[in-house]
Amino acid sequence: MFQLNGKIAFITGAGSGIGEEIARAFVAQGATVVVADIDEAAGRRVADDIGTLSRYHRLDVTDSLAVQVALEQTAERYGSLDVLVNNAGIGLVGSVEETSDEDFERLMSVNVNGVYYGCKHAIPLMLKQGRGNIINIGSVAGLIGIERRFAYCATKGAVIAMTRQLAIDYATRGIRVNCIAPGTVYTPFVDSYLQRFHAHELEETKARLHARQPIGRMGTPRDIAAMAVYLACDDSSFVTGAVMAIDGGWTAR
Ligand SMILES: NC(=O)c1ccc[n+]([C@@H]2O[C@H](COP(=O)([O-])OP(=O)(O)OC[C@H]3O[C@@H](n4cnc5c(N)ncnc54)[C@H](O)[C@@H]3O)[C@@H](O)[C@H]2O)c1
Repeated sequence: MFQLNGKIAFITGAGSGIGEEIARAFVAQGATVVVADIDEAAGRRVADDIGTLSRYHRLDVTDSLAVQVALEQTAERYGSLDVLVNNAGIGLVGSVEETSDEDFERLMSVNVNGVYYGCKHAIPLMLKQGRGNIINIGSVAGLIGIERRFAYCATKGAVIAMTRQLAIDYATRGIRVNCIAPGTVYTPFVDSYLQRFHAHELEETKARLHARQPIGRMGTPRDIAAMAVYLACDDSSFVTGAVMAIDGGWTAR
């Protein structure tokens, strides 16, 4: 069960946090992984660590042409592109009044355009090979309103909508498209917004972040990677258009 033997996976934002753990889990299950990340030092560290067949590709997901070239090169070099994980994403704390136009556009550019470019350029390659699997990393922020996360909620809502729409268009053409919607997962992403927006109340905020999951703790990257392995493998062949909330019960409230 849950084997990825021989599969070629391209994971954006795999130099840190959730993407890194997905890369490690995929390789452990037999996949070859392209670690795509804008941060060269982080991406190289992960790629060098996870195995000889895997490699780092410097990529800014907001650059449509660069995404196209990276995916085409992957399919050419390895003979296929089996799984695309659109994981790269950035956060922002702020109500609509606190959100500048520049911040809103930056979030849209990485979190929405990045996923759009990945899907747009992977799907023709996947159609050519007659199969493919796309996993988008959304968030509970796309399912419910979270206080002072205006732009972030907007972008993750779009990721969920794109997932469902694409699943319908390609369901009969061999391509599955699913979304994982994590609750709060303790990664450098959370650390950086704690430092940036809550430096004066670090411990109280951390405690609140743990508590907003009914289970009483933040998730770990491993909690998310386990679902990614399931969605990427052939045992989930009946699953498409799904939004898997991995959130310690947050959205069950
Ligand atoms: N950590 C959480 O609580 C949480 C919860 C729900 C959803 N998510 C989502 O999970 C994904 C990963 O989050 P994480 O917590 O692992 O974050 P992280 O900050 O630890 O890692 C994100 C990675 O994406 C890369 N990246 C950023 N912009 C990029 C760009 N333009 N092109 C390519 N790479 C880029 C970064 O260099 C970094 O390596 C994001 O989409 C995030 O929105 C995170």
